[in-house]
Amino acid sequence: MATMDVKEIVKQAAQQEDKAHKFYTDALKFVKDAAARIWIKELADEELKHKKMLQKLDVSKIKQFKPAKIQDLHITEYLVDKDVHEIKDFQDVLIVAMKKEQKSYNFYVSMAKSSDNPEMKNLCKILAQEELKHKHDLELYYDDNVYQWD
Ligand SMILES: [Fe+2]
Ligand SMILES: [Fe+2]
Repeated sequence: MATMDVKEIVKQAAQQEDKAHKFYTDALKFVKDAAARIWIKELADEELKHKKMLQKLDVSKIKQFKPAKIQDLHITEYLVDKDVHEIKDFQDVLIVAMKKEQKSYNFYVSMAKSSDNPEMKNLCKILAQEELKHKHDLELYYDDNVYQWD
């Protein structure tokens, strides 16, 4: 993990955003409600936008990246997609998506902390905020439409 360089991490993060895009696109087959479909499509689009933002980042300018802190990234956890095949319905989509968004948020917070490069710090902060918003929206939707209060 310590040998992972910043270029590789940014590349993998971009790939992960691509997977998130695919996840939401594939999840549409479980979504029947018209408004929910529009929302899930928006989520898919935003993940694709994240991928492009990461790809635009000029990693050659990034010199100050503290490798000691890479251990805090939980990057392995972030990269593992073990739960997607268990999806049966829209409720599962929401649960898996909330977990994924939480991991993405944690990842970008750690990335922002690990880099002294202002451009990268900024990008990671923006991405962290957007993933947090995704998670928050998913939680609100879950609470309103799925969760049964006793
Ligand atoms: Fe994202
Ligand atoms: Fe997201």
